[in-house]
Amino acid sequence: MSQSEIGVVGLGTMGAMLTMNIADNGFKVSAFNRSASRLPGFMKDAGDLASQITPCDTLEDFVASLKPPRNIILMVPAGAAVDSQIDALRPLLDSDDMIIDAGNANFHETNRRAASAVEAGVPFLGIGVSGGAEGARFGPSIMGGGPKDCWDRVAHILEAISAKYDDRPCAQWMGSGGAGHFVKTVHNGIEYADMQLIAEAYGIMRDGKAMAAADCGRVFEGWNTGILQSYLIEISGEVSQAVDSETGSPVLDIILDRAGQKGTGRWTVIESQMLGAPVPVIEAAVGARNMSAMRDLRLKGAALYGDDVQSISDDALTMTDLEQALIAGKILCYAQGFDLLVKASGEYGWTLPMPEIAEVWREGCIIRSSMLNDMASALREAPAGNLCTAPHFKSLITANVGGLRKTALAAQAAGLPVPALAAALAYFDTMTQARTTANMLQAQRDYFGAHSFERTDKDGAHHGPWLGQHLDG
Ligand code: 6PG
Repeated sequence: MSQSEIGVVGLGTMGAMLTMNIADNGFKVSAFNRSASRLPGFMKDAGDLASQITPCDTLEDFVASLKPPRNIILMVPAGAAVDSQIDALRPLLDSDDMIIDAGNANFHETNRRAASAVEAGVPFLGIGVSGGAEGARFGPSIMGGGPKDCWDRVAHILEAISAKYDDRPCAQWMGSGGAGHFVKTVHNGIEYADMQLIAEAYGIMRDGKAMAAADCGRVFEGWNTGILQSYLIEISGEVSQAVDSETGSPVLDIILDRAGQKGTGRWTVIESQMLGAPVPVIEAAVGARNMSAMRDLRLKGAALYGDDVQSISDDALTMTDLEQALIAGKILCYAQGFDLLVKASGEYGWTLPMPEIAEVWREGCIIRSSMLNDMASALREAPAGNLCTAPHFKSLITANVGGLRKTALAAQAAGLPVPALAAALAYFDTMTQARTTANMLQAQRDYFGAHSFERTDKDGAHHGPWLGQHLDG
């Protein structure tokens, strides 16, 4: 058999699907898995595509099966496994052979790996791949980072296997080092927030309006035909209407209310704090997942204080208000995510391609939605501008923020937690506040720490009258 154009290490769900996708696009691909016992089952699953795939029992065979200069995609769990796989591979490779980490790596780790690759004079790419198993198999969204010539070397393959929007590949080079993984991390932060906003709308329907899961599902289905059209709204409609074959109950009703996380949402929040680029809706979403995991405390709290939720009347809140809340909340949340990307781009010297980021998220990835096309247009007009200030989104927010306010008020009055919706509203109210209350913070800081403050009426650093009094007294 002739040598393969590319190889994949790691045949977990994502790796297996990506390998089949590569084969399906006409490329010869080699496959290696740490445990070789996975190979026969994988080749069977590959069906007709197996003729394009070379399964390899050993790393040595794997390397020998690849056409030089070799291109090797790692699809192994993020973290230590990536380093040990690189360490195992490098001694077998030539200096122009390239390793491509396609897992959900922390961008700091990608920066570190990229720097040691530069030091060793070997090519290395870090790419973020979004779209879950289905995306990996039939077209993910791909966010690349590393030397541009390394990207160009495999761009024809990555573009071929990626999702397409209007025939354009959803695969894009984002910048050097960890740029691709940074963009993927922010994608995931937005994903957490989008999911939480939807979950809160579901909570209002379920607990505030006593709606059955299937009815909630039909509402999501309806919303999916409007401005909110997106993959996450679509699957929310589907999961809400699914029935458990064992019990006959809605599947949603038997799923324990404790959400897991692998950490990418948390990384987004950490990076936003380091960069001073606030992402409060994403923070609320990460916090809500953490609170969901504290089930024992929640059960104790419910027993101690009661967990009654008042019903929410249609006078207080209609389904249209709720839809509007999600529209406004979503725009405000994405505005924060894009702002974080702009800040990071400047800080890390990346020149991130802002409109193209929105473009590669239009198809294939988990946060794909029709709104992203308009976001791409807005970012093309003003790449560093906050989305809320773009004319199209200003109109949308103006038309929908009333629904967000009504929703947050009605939910909170009923005793229902809506941290992400409330954070979106607080962001809007702060963003539109010409005069905040930070003058009080400045006065307090100056009082106890002589930190000084600026005045509204003249330049310079000033102190309050309290300083002398305080020290003298
Ligand atoms: C994607 C997903 C995918 C995965 C994340 C989030 O873009 O395809 O984001 O990468 O779902 O790892 O997982 P957690 O919710 O477990 O953090």
